[in-house]
Amino acid sequence: MPDELFDEVLARIRPSAAEEAQMRSVAREAIDKVDAAACAEGLDVYALHVGSTARDTWLKGKKDIDIFLMFPPETPREKLEEDGLRLAKAVSPRYEERYAEHPYLTALYRGLDVDLVPCFRVKDAAHIQSAVDRSPFHNQYVQKNIDAKADQVRLLKQFTRGVGVYGSELRTQGFSGYLCELLVLKYGSFMGVVEHGSGFRRGKVIDIEGHMDRSVEHADALVVIDPVDPKRNVAAALSEQKFCEFVDACRRFLKAPSIGFFFPPPPEPMKKGALEGLLASRGTRLVAITFKTPDIVEDTLYPQLRKAEESVVNLLGRHEFKVYRSDVWSSDRSAVVLEMLVWELPAIERHFGPPLYEREHCEKFIEKYPGAYITSSCRYAVDMPRRYDTANELIRARLTSCGLGKNVAKSVAEGFDIMQNENVLELGPEFAVFLTKFLRAPEN
Ligand code: UTP
Ligand code: MN
Repeated sequence: MPDELFDEVLARIRPSAAEEAQMRSVAREAIDKVDAAACAEGLDVYALHVGSTARDTWLKGKKDIDIFLMFPPETPREKLEEDGLRLAKAVSPRYEERYAEHPYLTALYRGLDVDLVPCFRVKDAAHIQSAVDRSPFHNQYVQKNIDAKADQVRLLKQFTRGVGVYGSELRTQGFSGYLCELLVLKYGSFMGVVEHGSGFRRGKVIDIEGHMDRSVEHADALVVIDPVDPKRNVAAALSEQKFCEFVDACRRFLKAPSIGFFFPPPPEPMKKGALEGLLASRGTRLVAITFKTPDIVEDTLYPQLRKAEESVVNLLGRHEFKVYRSDVWSSDRSAVVLEMLVWELPAIERHFGPPLYEREHCEKFIEKYPGAYITSSCRYAVDMPRRYDTANELIRARLTSCGLGKNVAKSVAEGFDIMQNENVLELGPEFAVFLTKFLRAPEN
């Protein structure tokens, strides 16, 4: 096994002693400030350090700490939100309010982002009132079981990050930190995870505690039953695509392990000449439908962008245009990006009429369309002038009546552009990097 490789990777991802000390003292101070504020107000609330920085599984250079504010479970939700934000502000005068399932606060304190998240301290994870209530239980479970395996978790986090599948937020739909921890607990080491991972099939179930609730169906690519909640799949946010990319990466790593899996070279932005050459040799057309990015959090934005992508692909398909691949991209502007095989069609289209055996309907159809003829599917049909003979016309005419998601629909209604081929590079250098990956030729 490539032990030297692992040593080299670990030397780059294990936090230094100074970093560790800084992390711990910031956590300690933040906790003390919240506890003191709660005490001064006579509130029955205390702060708890959770997440990867509490269990020694964070990667060097990480700048955020998770501190949870533990409220009695009977606290009304509005009170939890109000008191939670007020107590959190005791940590630092510099902060940003954010929203997940309920509002939380990120305090900027001594160079770190301290996430201060109010939650209900329920008696066990099966009784959660809000999704974040599970985190303190995850913390207990991992701290109790991870002992000497923290470095193995770090290797897995860096590997999944390097191959582009780390992060459970809806933008990525990949592996969460907790999922990496559980996989290492299950298979004992990073290599254990990679060896088993290389053979994972869709629907694979991992139930470390052997306590899964069989009345709950999980239709996900990977099912990892939460050791603290028999109903919950920890891998529910993992998309099928990212699951497959992970299995593929495990196989490639086993064949030829290298540092590049952990630290891939930075992606090259696509250059104008290269793009023109590529499109000419492929014979495809690149289309980007762009609009102003709505001012909403990524976890709300990305599902809407994917919904828009799906609607556009369906719209084009229904009108006989052919999309080869599609994706979404977002920065100041957002884009649904398409590589198309067919974007122009002839002047006619077939309009189907009734089946041969519906005699009366057939009579009417023939009367209305004197050019009607019978087809091999036993239906009448007639050739009509095609309504939309380019994909662009179709998109222009029909995009706003597609299912787009609330905020994306509003932004599209305010105006959108259709950019083509090398003109898409006007979206800027970040988009050029995205394009390199999007158009990557299949490896063989
Ligand atoms: P974080 O996203 O901060 O993850 O969520 P992390 O484990 O600290 O890992 P990194 O190093 O920051 O990337 C904090 C906690 O919220 C729960 C886990 O308990 C996690 O430790 N969580 C978060 C989940 O259970 N699932 C998720 O998808 C995200
Ligand atoms: Mn974290």
